[in-house]
Amino acid sequence: MNHLVALPHHLCYLNGEYLPLNEARVSVLDRGFIFGDGIYEVVPVYGGKPFRWAHHHARMARSLQEVRIPHADDAATWAARIDHLVNAHAAHTGQRVGNIEQLIYIQITRGVAPRDHVIDPQLSPTVFAMVNTMKPPSAEQREHGVSCVSAHDFRWEKGHIKSISLLSAILARDISHQAHAVETVMFRNGHLTEASSSNVWVVKNGSVMAAPKDNLVLEGIRYGLLEELCAQEGLSYELRPIRRSEVFDADELLLTSATKEVLPITHLDGQAIGHGAQAGRPGPIYQRLYQAYQKVKQ
Ligand code: PDD
Repeated sequence: MNHLVALPHHLCYLNGEYLPLNEARVSVLDRGFIFGDGIYEVVPVYGGKPFRWAHHHARMARSLQEVRIPHADDAATWAARIDHLVNAHAAHTGQRVGNIEQLIYIQITRGVAPRDHVIDPQLSPTVFAMVNTMKPPSAEQREHGVSCVSAHDFRWEKGHIKSISLLSAILARDISHQAHAVETVMFRNGHLTEASSSNVWVVKNGSVMAAPKDNLVLEGIRYGLLEELCAQEGLSYELRPIRRSEVFDADELLLTSATKEVLPITHLDGQAIGHGAQAGRPGPIYQRLYQAYQKVKQ
């Protein structure tokens, strides 16, 4: 099959140029291709505006610094680029930007060079960005919640970097995919870390908790957002090590990510989450945080 026929051809950004996505090309010697040597960002766009862009840009800058890739384009330069791509994508789909939810993907790799593990600080990074239509959770998932499975967190110890080396995340996700579940909730040394591409929240006695922001989890942009939403809603918010038994004994479990926003986990390893009549159903704290999230999106 000629993949070029099937690939989307709306505009993307590659190394200073805007060109159709299906025509964009990177060398096979790109260190992103050879080593997974790069970082990325995923940013939701509501009404044509990237949501919490300053936070995403700051996280991108942190990832770049951690992996020592020099890239100095500031938040305003990126915002102009994103604006161009968002409008081009909307025009391509025949819709007004105000009527669709979009997703920006940005990837920066260390650049193109003969294969060598050693980092050459002189390389020019490969800079890529595209916009796609957001695929939010279904109405059914929102109404009934989702099933997840648990697994040992076998990923590396630099989970705080939004690295494009995602093989371990993909293998982790496959565990739940094979079980027809939506995410893989991971534990390391008996404590909750996160899911393969989402953060995990435990609700207990009205308190909203997640794993500490350390090197074992990616600090989702929704960490800060949930802190704000909890403050608004008068809910207590706490980051601390959470034992496996506390996860299974939660009143509610939640997933957050750019695409899932906030989504209830109602079953983990086949066990209904929650207590009494509430067990296995999206809970009241989920409903409040979801409503509050929808308000701040506008
Ligand atoms: N994933 N943890 C991991 C390992 C992730 O990959 C993600 C995001 C999150 C949530 O981060 P945020 O709230 O900033 O989306 C947590 C993105 C969406 C992805 O890889 O597509």
